[in-house]
Amino acid sequence: MKGVILAGGTGTRLAPLTKIVNKHLLPAGKVPMIEHAVRKLASAGIGDILVVIGKQSAGLFLDYLGGGKRWGVRLTYRVQEEAGGIAQGLALAEGFISEGEKMVVLLGDNLFEDDLRPFADRFAKQEPGTAMVLLKETDELNRYGVPVLANDTIARIEEKPSDPQSDYCVTGVYLYDSAVFGAIRGIRPSLRGELEITDVNNRYAAEGALTYGVLTGWWTDAGTFESLREAGERLSFPDAEPG
Ligand code: G1P
Repeated sequence: MKGVILAGGTGTRLAPLTKIVNKHLLPAGKVPMIEHAVRKLASAGIGDILVVIGKQSAGLFLDYLGGGKRWGVRLTYRVQEEAGGIAQGLALAEGFISEGEKMVVLLGDNLFEDDLRPFADRFAKQEPGTAMVLLKETDELNRYGVPVLANDTIARIEEKPSDPQSDYCVTGVYLYDSAVFGAIRGIRPSLRGELEITDVNNRYAAEGALTYGVLTGWWTDAGTFESLREAGERLSFPDAEPG
């Protein structure tokens, strides 16, 4: 199984800091945010990782992460030229992921405590052409994608709903195989002009092919000052250090 880290986003909610450096290089605990995603994949035994970056700070990503030797992984880079959505960034992994191969996709701003390995092991046994997302219980449901659950699968995901149908949000941890590239080709830009990962996931959900796992440790989307501060505090404790 391979890993894909999506770090192409510009992080407008963290301006003005993100005017000088890309969001994923801001400090989260003792290290730049992006290092946590690399460590999470490395500690799940996933050593072949594609990092999708934007043009902003591209050289700094390379300066810091290099080829990944420090974490015992091999890093490959692709550049998302303009912000066109999470699914557009993921489409750049086509070719890096071979036909039929599986992957764990992490949004670079999602920081969390759980070990990925049990979820990756479960997904390794899933049927080809299916997908899995990781959920987390939250009381800030209107900030995220929220699933409508149907036993072991997800019936559909509602993006930033006003009337949430469960107590869980869809985190930025997704497991797919190469069939996801076909699913991405089947969606159109949303009203905000982006290729939405939720539209991709809803294609799987409509076929009863979207399973889920639940994170039990802490999780945060560090895209705002408040959540980045909170993540930084948790990550300052050595015991909570991912990886
Ligand atoms: C994206 C997804 C959303 C998910 C969130 C997790 O939201 O669209 O479903 O809950 O990431 O971080 P965005 O950050 O684009 O608002």
